[in-house]
Amino acid sequence: MSQGPGGTERARIAILISGRGSNMVALAEAVRDGRIPNAEIAIVISDQANAAGLVKARELGLETLIIERRGRPRAEHDGEVVAALRARHIDLVCLAGYMRVLSSGFIEAYPGRILNIHPSLLPSFPGLNAQQQALDHGAESSGCTVHFVDETLDGGPIIAQRVVPLYDNDTVESLSARILVEEHRLYAEAVSAVLNELQET
Ligand code: GRF
Repeated sequence: MSQGPGGTERARIAILISGRGSNMVALAEAVRDGRIPNAEIAIVISDQANAAGLVKARELGLETLIIERRGRPRAEHDGEVVAALRARHIDLVCLAGYMRVLSSGFIEAYPGRILNIHPSLLPSFPGLNAQQQALDHGAESSGCTVHFVDETLDGGPIIAQRVVPLYDNDTVESLSARILVEEHRLYAEAVSAVLNELQET
């Protein structure tokens, strides 16, 4: 935690991205607008040097850091990420389109403090192309999930979910766009709720 104006404690959030970064922007805007109170985005880290989200983060005035895998073992790459988080006294880690499964060392460094967002109602449709999976299964609805991260792919305890209907004429693009609107709302609400819990303990 760091001291905000008036001496309030502010939770320091790190956001990890690999690509577009729209959930990162949604979280940053929620912090800015007070929908995630008593918090700040302390760092945006990308494992991809050309992630579009890095440009958006810099435009928002956020500190950015690129930590590429460069062919190293997962634990070594994660070790560098954890060192960067510790150096910045991070309280909460939000994965936002971060395309890596975390090593046990990373998860043990931040127990109960790593969140992810996934574009389906987990445990349905984990992994890649969740929206296409929902279409392929002829599901009547799908949605999005914010969950705690463990060593399984999209498998940790669920924090919050939102249902999104599927329509007959849906394409992967139309469904993804409809889910994304809800992702942006849900992630901010879930982060706010988790910080509230952490700040009370
Ligand atoms: C989102 O659909 C998120 O749920 C999934 O990857 C996508 C990332 O999009 N994990 P963005 O980079 O936040 O725009």
